[in-house]
Amino acid sequence: MHLAASAPYLIEQRYEEYAPEQHAIWAELVRRRRPQIEAAACREYLEGYSVIELGDDRLPNLQNISARLKPRTGWSATPVNGFLPGEAFFEMLAARMFPTTIYIRSGDSLDYTPEPDIFHDVFGHVPMHAHKVFADFLQHYGAVCAELKDHRQLERIGRLFWYTVEFGLIRQGGEVKVYGSGVISSQGECTNVLNGGCEIADFRLEDVLNTPVIVDHLQKRLFAIESFDQIYEAMHTAEKQLGGAR
Ligand SMILES: [Fe+2]
Repeated sequence: MHLAASAPYLIEQRYEEYAPEQHAIWAELVRRRRPQIEAAACREYLEGYSVIELGDDRLPNLQNISARLKPRTGWSATPVNGFLPGEAFFEMLAARMFPTTIYIRSGDSLDYTPEPDIFHDVFGHVPMHAHKVFADFLQHYGAVCAELKDHRQLERIGRLFWYTVEFGLIRQGGEVKVYGSGVISSQGECTNVLNGGCEIADFRLEDVLNTPVIVDHLQKRLFAIESFDQIYEAMHTAEKQLGGAR
């Protein structure tokens, strides 16, 4: 695939250039998040976490992670130099390349980072890319969005991304578990969900597409799926709905 839009954003991760303090920040973030995640993350996330062999004490080497993911689902964690414009972002998802930041937040802002960093991207997102149905859903999302030009349509379908990839919940064994990166990687958001601070609605595509995203405070209403087949199918339904307007 020719990556015209994303080419300017692709970089290398020079792994040996990370300082010991940066590895220590990763280790501290993992130490803080692991206990809650072991209890609250869905089983597919936890399985993916061991598939990609995330380390507890050192920053992840993206080449090694991609080498573990690719044979399973065709995905890679591809280094980029920051936040990507939509066109580049969707193009990469369509090619099963997850745009992954390589910067790690500083030690004095462990609980919050305004921009995604390697902890949000790798600890939060990448384990789910080892799951075949989720992996296919995400690729399809990118391929459909890459063709969209109308910004109202993009905003609407962006809510599907927000309420799944970023803030998705799933019911497993009678409990609500988390799989979205924004809930996985954030103690505050995850605790808000587990403590009932947030309404948990059943996932219905129409409701998701009609719920604007909240970016500046804790989530008030999230959606729980029953299985990952549900979002895979929802994406196909969304594509058909957009079909007439494209
Ligand atoms: Fe994210």
